Amino acid sequence: YRNLRVALLGAGSVGAQVVALLQKHGDELAQRAGAGLELVGVAVRDVDAPRTADIPRELLTTDAEALIVGADVVIELIGGIEPARTYILQALNSGADVVTANKALIATHGPELFAAAEQVGAQLFYEAAVAGAIPIIRPLRDSLAGDQVTRIMGIVNGTTNFILDRMDTDGEGLETALATATELGYAEADPTGDIEGFDAAQKAAILASLAFHTTVPIDSVHREGITSVTAEQVASARAAGFVIKLLAICERLTDASGTEGVSARVYPALVPRTHPLAAVRGAKNAVFVEAEAAGDLMFYGAGAGGIETASAVLGDLVSAARRHVIGGPGIAESNHADLPVLPISSVTTRY
Ligand code: NDP
Ligand code: HSE
Repeated sequence: YRNLRVALLGAGSVGAQVVALLQKHGDELAQRAGAGLELVGVAVRDVDAPRTADIPRELLTTDAEALIVGADVVIELIGGIEPARTYILQALNSGADVVTANKALIATHGPELFAAAEQVGAQLFYEAAVAGAIPIIRPLRDSLAGDQVTRIMGIVNGTTNFILDRMDTDGEGLETALATATELGYAEADPTGDIEGFDAAQKAAILASLAFHTTVPIDSVHREGITSVTAEQVASARAAGFVIKLLAICERLTDASGTEGVSARVYPALVPRTHPLAAVRGAKNAVFVEAEAAGDLMFYGAGAGGIETASAVLGDLVSAARRHVIGGPGIAESNHADLPVLPISSVTTRY
């Protein structure tokens, strides 16, 4: 049974919950992974700052670079471009697999990071980078690899959906609702990225790149945020049977000149109240995928939040660990040898 050294960079909203879940379920995750998952350290800016999880003091360090040395898997949950980019490159160049939730970095420096990983046979996992807990990266990259995706339409920013929902249901102002979203851990360290649509645009660039097997640069994504949405507009939309949602739309299109290409755009849109997207409330996200053979698919769930996002991060950690143990892409079956199969009579049947 091999022991893998796991280094965590960042212990904020998401990172602290990764530690908490590892403390709670580490043994079972190790069983599923087929390898021990030893958290060797947690890099932060301030080791004395209050945390939302009980992290042993001896694990905390401000020296991220030293922590990366010798790690088998590095989890980057610092956010932003630098120093996250440098740390990830250092980790990949040393042969470690990397797990990140950093959409800003993937959307702007993805090709550089994937090339670095490929060069040394390491892998970069980023399921948590789009739509928090919702599995959407693997479905687009793997499950739909044999199909032709034609359109993606989604609510991919929890903070703005939370704010628009509060404006719609409670008549709350943007500033008040944003303060609550920040308190609940949904917003980015700089919430301008949320409310001005940058975060959703980064996610749209990632989704469009995966779905259409190309590289969609972040600068090519049309972006409008929600700061110009007024209480009056929300009320008028409501009276007319609509709700305003910040949508990310990625399409394969042919323009007037007959050139085929990809369009990715983010803007506040009027959604009929009868449409399934209108029912996506609070910080929840939903992603519709239209594909030639599969038809319409819908992915729904928590798009933001510390523990919810930690779920996707830990899924990537298990995949990375399996890769270390068995080689290949990390698709080993779960190992539940110790779990008994319950007789049907002992199950309470509610459905
Ligand atoms: P936070 O701002 O809550 O936490 C950031 C953490 O990184 C803090 O612990 C901070 O240390 C640490 N940190 C910052 N700079 C450095 C540095 N130079 N060296 C070492 N540590 C550093 O961020 P979140 O947890 O909210 O987000 C983390 C990532 O996850 C981001 O990429 C974000 O976009 C992404 N994400 C977040 C979601 C959410 O709902 N919050 C959902 C999906 C993705 P200290 O605590 O000491 O200040
Ligand atoms: N700030 C982001 C959001 C976090 O509100 O959706 C999840 O990526």
